[in-house]
Amino acid sequence: MEREFESPFSSGTPSTGSGSGDRGIDGFGPGFIRQGGVLECREVSLEELAERFGTPLYVYDSQGIADRVRAFQKAFQGVDFLLAYSVKANGNVAILDRIGALGAGADIVSGGELHRALTAGIPSERIVFAGVGKSEEEMEVALEAGIYSFHVESAGELRLLESVAARRDLTAPVGIRVNPDVVSPTPHEYTRTGHAASKFGVPVEQALELYRTARESPHLSLRGIDVHIGSQIVEVDPYLEALDTVLAMVDELGAEGLELEYLDLGGGFGVGYEGEAGLPLEALARAVVPRLASRGLRLLVEPGRAIVGPAGALLTRVRFRKRSGGKTFVITDGGMTELLRPSHYGGWHRIELVTQREDAPVAPVDVVGPVCETGDFLARDRELSVPEPGDLLAVGTAGAYGFSMSSNYNARLRPAEVMVEDGQVHLIRKRETVDDLLRGEVIPPRTPTPGTDES
Ligand code: LLP
Repeated sequence: MEREFESPFSSGTPSTGSGSGDRGIDGFGPGFIRQGGVLECREVSLEELAERFGTPLYVYDSQGIADRVRAFQKAFQGVDFLLAYSVKANGNVAILDRIGALGAGADIVSGGELHRALTAGIPSERIVFAGVGKSEEEMEVALEAGIYSFHVESAGELRLLESVAARRDLTAPVGIRVNPDVVSPTPHEYTRTGHAASKFGVPVEQALELYRTARESPHLSLRGIDVHIGSQIVEVDPYLEALDTVLAMVDELGAEGLELEYLDLGGGFGVGYEGEAGLPLEALARAVVPRLASRGLRLLVEPGRAIVGPAGALLTRVRFRKRSGGKTFVITDGGMTELLRPSHYGGWHRIELVTQREDAPVAPVDVVGPVCETGDFLARDRELSVPEPGDLLAVGTAGAYGFSMSSNYNARLRPAEVMVEDGQVHLIRKRETVDDLLRGEVIPPRTPTPGTDES
């Protein structure tokens, strides 16, 4: 990683003012606006970015990210509040740096994410560590770093954490992640985590028992309680249902003399992929804040997607177009290796021609990538102004779980990432090269085979 002290890039297209012709785009964050027929990020032309950095390319709107962090902080200002940004949504250190600078912390799920968060300067006392399968080594490193709390997801994990802490004569701060048995209305079953049959969290009765036994240990400090019911939720009620369950536990434990410091309501706050409204934050805050404030509890939330999703777009260029089986295929240079969501969860992302073509017919097309999988697509049967080879497409709301789930499958090079900030363009991750692909691979010497030239 390098720190950039001065931007080598000047601002993009000069501002043409905010007169007529500006328009926000459904399914893209507010930083993405069309001016004079060309899609821009904060007045920087996406055509120009693609020219300069190549495609596929992730583009992030720094102001859009900051605005979302501030919106959470404002909504929950009536209570002692910590936004622990969920690093898994997008862990680029530049993005973590900006989020941390606004006073936010991090929700991590691995030693790797801990390393990212600390490298970006997020103070350890603002970091919480979730995940069902933490390793002993990850526990040690996080304990030494002095994180705010471990979100423990099983009795076995609690025992291991206690032994790790005892060995170092330390005290591990703990919040039990409770499985509240709430069926969260997420668009895909893979992103539901609050129902009893999921691998996440500890059922209520067992969790209460864990608190009771753990309070006897000198190496565990019971700091809070945690719940996370799923991802891309747009309704308030499931949160309140989960909240009621954990508040009843807080009260029960309080009656037994065990006072907790914080309640973590998790993440999952939905965004508008198609241009619809996301989760109504103010309505959630109105219901949550008084219940916590009256108990003197600190509130943590762990949004990922709601912070970075709308602030990111993926740029991809059309390579070819063909017709087969009654379908039109638009073949782009980006696909499931850059953005897995459509393929893996049936995720729907808006796709726009960066430069509008008034003359193009609108027809249903499949936008597919170059990867050798039938499941490699960005959109299927999508009504689009049919693009031509060479056209640039922008995929909206791709800032979360886009780059972070990208892969090298088919030996593809992972894309570059740029951040538009205050009229400047920063390259925050270089495009991979073939040397990156082979890093760490070793060809062992061959055993000579008798009777061949090698013997
Ligand atoms: N906290 C915990 C404990 C989590 O497991 C997650 C997400 C979050 C917070 C953040 O959720 P968010 O606010 O970003 O919805 N790859 C999927 C999403 C998987 C989410 C996993 N956990 C997708 O692309 O939709």
